[in-house]
Amino acid sequence: MASISLENVTLDYPVFDLNDKSLKRRLLTVVGGQREKASVIRALHGIDLEIKAGERVGLYGPNGSGKTTLLRTIAGIFPISGGHINSTGHITPLLGLAIGANKEISAEDNIRLLLRVDGIKPTADVVDSIWDFTELKDKMRRLPLRTFSSGMLMRVLFSVSTAFSPEILLLDEWLSVVDKTFSKKAEQRMEDLVSRTKILVIASHNINMLERVCTRIVCLDEGRIISDEPVVAKPKVEEPLEAAVHDSAITSQGLS
Ligand SMILES: Nc1ncnc2c1ncn2[C@@H]1O[C@H](COP(=O)(O)OP(=O)(O)O)[C@@H](O)[C@H]1O
Ligand SMILES: [Mg+2]
Repeated sequence: MASISLENVTLDYPVFDLNDKSLKRRLLTVVGGQREKASVIRALHGIDLEIKAGERVGLYGPNGSGKTTLLRTIAGIFPISGGHINSTGHITPLLGLAIGANKEISAEDNIRLLLRVDGIKPTADVVDSIWDFTELKDKMRRLPLRTFSSGMLMRVLFSVSTAFSPEILLLDEWLSVVDKTFSKKAEQRMEDLVSRTKILVIASHNINMLERVCTRIVCLDEGRIISDEPVVAKPKVEEPLEAAVHDSAITSQGLS
């Protein structure tokens, strides 16, 4: 059974003082074998959160409130500075471009790599069907990802990350980077994926979208949970996710 449990979780980002160019201090640091002194930004403060199978949780809050950090924390991308996290179920984080991809190797080798990371055997059929979904020219398959535009890169990463339904799906407001011609297909694929996933956690500053898609909304402000409420049932809206993805695409123009 999929579940996510965070207990009193704090997360600090180390911040190095890039203006400190004192050569003497740097040399002393190196010679003395000490680490450069770092200050920190506390991005999450004492987060308590329990999510059970069947829930679709919206993380809502202004820029800088900690939504992306909380998703990365749930995904285990960053080590936490305090507290406990317990998750059961396979997590697929769709948090932005290029996490886990290697830009120096070919597109198809990246597809194989990302499948293996997810514990899926990259058979020729699987890799072909993922590549077909991108609708990119076949000759691009063997080119390194660094030669792809960001839109092309997004197609590859989107196709591979959504090819199999995860137990726990984490989404940041990233769909806006999928280009227009691709977005219709992407919406359909997302709809299928969300309907099959056991837990969805989606971050956005678009409350209308979250109210349509989610069963529960957690509001964040300055790294703290300030409210955690179920979404009051509304009359069923047709094609809720498609409309939601469309909203998200037009309200945000870049990666958050
Ligand atoms: N890699 C990072 N290094 C240092 N500070 C960061 C980093 N990423 C985010 N932060 C800081 O953490 C806080 C929360 O950011 P974030 O999780 O991106 O918020 P949101 O997704 O809600 O906009 C902000 O103060 C931001 O400046
Ligand atoms: Mg963010």
